[in-house]
Amino acid sequence: MSLLRINGMIDPHVHLRDLDWEHKGTFTSETAAAIAGGYWAVLDMPNTMPSTIDSSTLAMKKNTIRNKALSDWGLYFGAAASDNTEFYRSIWGSVCGIKIYNNATTGNLLIEEQALREKIYQAWHCKRPIAVHAEGETVAQILELVKKYRRFTHFTHISTAEEIHYLRQAKADGLPISIGVTPHHLYLTEDDIPSLGSLGLMKPELKTKHDQAALWQAIAEGLVDVIESDHAPHTLEEKMSDSPPYGVPGLETTLSLMLLAVREERLSLEQLIPMISENPRSIFGIKCPPDTYTLVDINISHTIRNDELFTQCGWTPFNGMQVMGRVREVWIRGVQVFDGEQILVEAGFGQNIIAM
Ligand code: NCD
Ligand code: ZN
Repeated sequence: MSLLRINGMIDPHVHLRDLDWEHKGTFTSETAAAIAGGYWAVLDMPNTMPSTIDSSTLAMKKNTIRNKALSDWGLYFGAAASDNTEFYRSIWGSVCGIKIYNNATTGNLLIEEQALREKIYQAWHCKRPIAVHAEGETVAQILELVKKYRRFTHFTHISTAEEIHYLRQAKADGLPISIGVTPHHLYLTEDDIPSLGSLGLMKPELKTKHDQAALWQAIAEGLVDVIESDHAPHTLEEKMSDSPPYGVPGLETTLSLMLLAVREERLSLEQLIPMISENPRSIFGIKCPPDTYTLVDINISHTIRNDELFTQCGWTPFNGMQVMGRVREVWIRGVQVFDGEQILVEAGFGQNIIAM
């Protein structure tokens, strides 16, 4: 056995569901998936039902997750098309950041008007990052705002060669930005859609082999800061329906897929570890508590199986794939929370990692 210790693994882009979407997943089931995937903490996106776009919904969500989470957690606030900048001052001390949906996806938070985006950048003058869903040309539009207002911006789930091109230049220009990439865009392309069907449907959508190669190249260059799952569970029934929703789960497959990438010599362990721990922690200004770490057996291979998952949705687009590594132990604040098979703590153990 070759055990590797990784301190404070954190996924800064997940959709835990719960509230009115308990049928897709609950704060308990999806934080169980986080722990089984090796994670200490997750940052939950605001496109919940109801959306996290005002102080009272944020307070309600916080009260609910507090009693149900197993892993530690933080919450995003969502920018709303109806313009909710008035709330920023009262909430920015208690969220990990704000999310702007600049292109269409699950939920109803789309903002396409550049003038409103600019108003958000003006109003969000706090140290917490702005996380943006921006695809293609939209990346360039957001970079204009970063240049003008200098607010730290995390570009989530970057998926094309064109986007990498814009962001490489922006980093060279010294703009305060970071880049996140998902394992599904690294390991799947549009060529997988015929076999995956709607299980291969997510936003941003799967891209070409050329785009995929650009993402691996960006990782090799050290341009990518974060590997994030964009864990977005939907029920199998919903995915098999006539109008399947976008999104795939990922918390339990990210580490093993990336350890496979290490085995395939696409990147080194020394490159991988910061992208799933130190980098997202420092981007979001989060400290790792003492005695918070994961032990993973990196030399063992296994096959991903739907029926071994903790996520309530019970499926993954990677079912049947042979990957590397097994999470053996997870410790949070000195307490062992996972033994490789079972979660060892009760709902409510997980704490808010954002001040207040
Ligand atoms: C996410 C979801 O289902 O909440 N879906 C997705 O395809 N990624 C929303 C998002 O992050 O875009
Ligand atoms: Zn997402």
